[in-house]
Amino acid sequence: MDDQVVLRVSNLRVGFATEDHGMLVAVDGLSFDLRAGETLGLVGESGCGKSVTALSLLRLLPQPLGKILSGEILIKTKDGWEDIVRLPANQLSRIRGARISMIFQEPMTALNPVHTIGRQIFESFRLHFPEMSDKDILMKSLELLEDVGIPSPEKRIHEFPHQLSGGMRQRVVIAIALSADPDILVADEPTTALDVTIQAQILDLMLALQKKRGMSILLITHDLGVVAQMCQRTLVMYAGRLAEARDTRSLFKDPRHPYTKGLLHSIPRLGSVRKTLLPTIEGSVPALKDLLRGCRFQSRCPLVTERCREEIPEVQIKQDQNLACWNRGFHD
Ligand SMILES: Nc1ncnc2c1ncn2[C@@H]1O[C@H](COP(=O)(O)OP(=O)(O)OP(=O)(O)O)[C@@H](O)[C@H]1O
Ligand SMILES: [Mg+2]
Repeated sequence: MDDQVVLRVSNLRVGFATEDHGMLVAVDGLSFDLRAGETLGLVGESGCGKSVTALSLLRLLPQPLGKILSGEILIKTKDGWEDIVRLPANQLSRIRGARISMIFQEPMTALNPVHTIGRQIFESFRLHFPEMSDKDILMKSLELLEDVGIPSPEKRIHEFPHQLSGGMRQRVVIAIALSADPDILVADEPTTALDVTIQAQILDLMLALQKKRGMSILLITHDLGVVAQMCQRTLVMYAGRLAEARDTRSLFKDPRHPYTKGLLHSIPRLGSVRKTLLPTIEGSVPALKDLLRGCRFQSRCPLVTERCREEIPEVQIKQDQNLACWNRGFHD
């Protein structure tokens, strides 16, 4: 394996047990690598399986209905590779937080409203470093809050989440996620709930922290502008499957998959506050119970042929690039 790889997802299939339709597969055969120090974008419309992928990486799927059906999630640790899928439940706390950590879209739900900021950071340190003294934890907490740009942290630690602005809360959430110094940060729409100027500040902060700590980031977003600014490589998912994965620059310059093309056409113009997605791709992502055989994009694709209705597109691989389309290659 390439020694830059810190996380390898192979053939991941994730499903939800339902009463009416049996097991519905939300992520189907997804494979990708995350490398040391990189920011990898994960994009796709609502319902494409981005959050399900993210939750699977930490084995945080809603229980008892969510299930990893097959595949591997290999994570590099100092003792070699470990498969998160097969890790016994009592071993997960060793990985979560310390190796791979996650931040979510809505900072309020990630914080406990009845405890002070200080207590929540303190507890996170306590969990990961049980031998650390209270005094050291306090010092570390203040340092970390300073690192994430919270002014006067010694005052802020006595405050409750509702006393902070949305941007400050997301900074606290990031601090907690980083308290055990993870190698990998999964950020699921970390700025969607914030207004535009605060979004930019949080993204800058993530870049600065990444640089300082050398961690890898899997950044999930609807916003292709964010991807262009932040991500070296980008995965495009459609209805649970990979459509295209490339370095971001070539993806934007020369999108190969008809879905990627559609996504890029729909970038709102600068200054526009439009939040609606993808007006240029007719239709919407099919519900899991309505998935057809063959290519999942078939009903919306301008290039659809008979083969697309029959067979799942094979993933073409060229060096670092992946493309799943019967009608497009890397050269045409
Ligand atoms: N708890 C659940 N039970 C059943 N189906 C679910 C559950 N959670 C997600 N799904 C289904 O899995 C699919 C993928 O959902 P997911 O939340 O990963 O989408 P997403 O790409 O993160 O979308 P968004 O951009 O809206 O966050 C969807 O079809 C969704 O309906
Ligand atoms: Mg999501």
